[in-house]
Amino acid sequence: MAVLQERRVLQPGECHVWWARSTDFSPFLIHLFDQDERKRFHAYRFSADRDRFAVACGVMRLGLASYSGQPPESIPISRSCPQCGKPHGKPEVTNLSPPGIQFSISHAGDRVIVAFAVNTPVGVDVEEVFSEWSGESVAEAALTVGEMRAFSRIKEAERAAGFLTYWTQKEAVVKAVGEGFTIPPNRFSVSGRSDSPQLLSWPRDPGLLRRISLYDLSPGPDTVASLAVLGGCCRIRYLDGSALIGDWCGRDRADSSIRGPSL
Ligand SMILES: CC(C)(COP(=O)(O)OP(=O)(O)OC[C@H]1O[C@@H](n2cnc3c(N)ncnc32)[C@H](O)[C@@H]1OP(=O)(O)O)[C@@H](O)C(=O)NCCC(=O)NCCS
Ligand SMILES: [Zn+2]
Repeated sequence: MAVLQERRVLQPGECHVWWARSTDFSPFLIHLFDQDERKRFHAYRFSADRDRFAVACGVMRLGLASYSGQPPESIPISRSCPQCGKPHGKPEVTNLSPPGIQFSISHAGDRVIVAFAVNTPVGVDVEEVFSEWSGESVAEAALTVGEMRAFSRIKEAERAAGFLTYWTQKEAVVKAVGEGFTIPPNRFSVSGRSDSPQLLSWPRDPGLLRRISLYDLSPGPDTVASLAVLGGCCRIRYLDGSALIGDWCGRDRADSSIRGPSL
């Protein structure tokens, strides 16, 4: 398969944030997947989850291809879970030139987000805001006592987005650190909406507070998203993952009119 025609440069200190939607799914994306990705793709019971996974993998592979010039399907990705060894852990790229590219993926509802940076770990999380929110018990389980005090002062109508701001900041942090929620969310605190986004406590390593920066990426009132960057970044660029997939699948469709898409 071909390489991407358009090359992009990811500068140190920059973070590229690609947005896409699960409706960008095309069966042509499956040509890009490795064996583990194909297995996971076919194992989803619901097409909505399957499409979202495929679009996220597509943006990840096509993004990496645009930075490296390598064919997207030949980029080696490892997802080995440190707990059990299965391929469902933090995705990482091995042996890519230029070296040092790190990324993080999140999907919720029909939204997909993939953030890339160079020489610094990143974590990203997106969540959909539901107007009928009844997650008080989830908030009690996920927030620290101090966060819960600030959360209880939020007006009823803003509670869902208020909670999801805490949640996405926490998830972005645990993804940047690479451990996921093996660290329980109520064991460290973040600012939520009460201040500019920041990590406020991390008992395991208080020095992390100086090294990590949080950013609000929320694109509108129905979606909350946060980014964590170890070392911080000076510039965030937003890029169109839907167009990236559309261009690729359009070209692949033309190339593969003989073999057809493999589902
Ligand atoms: C990482 C985690 C926070 C993701 O949360 P989520 O709400 O399910 O889903 P999101 O869409 O926001 O993110 C999913 C992406 O996170 C990434 N991810 C998975 N594990 C990760 C980790 N340890 N660190 C950083 N990112 C991780 C993957 O790219 C995944 O995308 P994929 O499913 O398309 O491969 C959650 O799955 C978690 O806490 N996992 C770790 C728990 C664990 O290790 N359990 C042991 C299992 S044996
Ligand atoms: Zn595991």
